[in-house]
Amino acid sequence: MSEPLPAELQVGLERSATRRGRFGEPVVFFTETTSTNDMAAALAEAGAPDGALVLAAAQTCGRGRLGRHWSSPSGAGLYASVVIRQVSAAPLLTLAAGVAVADGVRSATGLSVCIKWPNDIIVPDEVMPGRRRKLAGVLAEGSAGARGLHYVVLGFGLNLRPAPYPPEVAARATSLEAELGRHVDAGAVLGEILSGLNEQVTRLAAGQHALTLQRWRALAPSANGARVEWTVHFRPLRGITAGIDDDGALRVRTEGRIERIVAGEVTWL
Ligand code: BTN
Repeated sequence: MSEPLPAELQVGLERSATRRGRFGEPVVFFTETTSTNDMAAALAEAGAPDGALVLAAAQTCGRGRLGRHWSSPSGAGLYASVVIRQVSAAPLLTLAAGVAVADGVRSATGLSVCIKWPNDIIVPDEVMPGRRRKLAGVLAEGSAGARGLHYVVLGFGLNLRPAPYPPEVAARATSLEAELGRHVDAGAVLGEILSGLNEQVTRLAAGQHALTLQRWRALAPSANGARVEWTVHFRPLRGITAGIDDDGALRVRTEGRIERIVAGEVTWL
């Protein structure tokens, strides 16, 4: 079912083999698929182990949070999904994955990316701090039954190089090569992200949440003191971010109260 893995990705997996634990074992690659999350879920249903990885050069039905389409042109991004069976890690898994992607990009390329709640990986604009462009995103999808959560598929999409994105995406997206002005080794980035995931998930499964939360907070300056807007029952609300709580919910100060946002769309103003 798998096609041959491109050499750059193969080398990246080999070089990170001692640090990524079971993340990336086995690995399945497609030149094109619908969605790596769907493929990883199908593999999980067929018994694939914790850490099994699906990669694609292109996705025809890539999806993001809140039912959005994730534009996935051929060769322009890293489109990856991992099967996670350590379900005790689930409550903070998306935040942990954001940390792994952000730190993976930082250590493989030196680019100072940040996180925007809950797990958008963004490149801040040094000159206009309010302006930021999205580099990557994380989508965690669980499969549950009568006996609880069976597994989670953790997908991440990372823009590697400029591509003919639809105008609404192009206006707010960026890529590693556009930011750095040089070729980026996708295998090295993948290896670092998987190594970070290994560290994060192992920690969470052992009940050690504090370090993940601490690192997330350090990588997400806009979770504190930024003006945001969100909607409750079609009513727009505004406030100032006041950090995340230990469950990963965003706290927002509005008219003397603290609101807790657990999901949904928040717009930074
Ligand atoms: C978001 O920011 O909304 C999350 C985007 C997640 C996209 C990735 S690409 C690989 C995996 N397969 C998908 O269909 N989605 C995720």
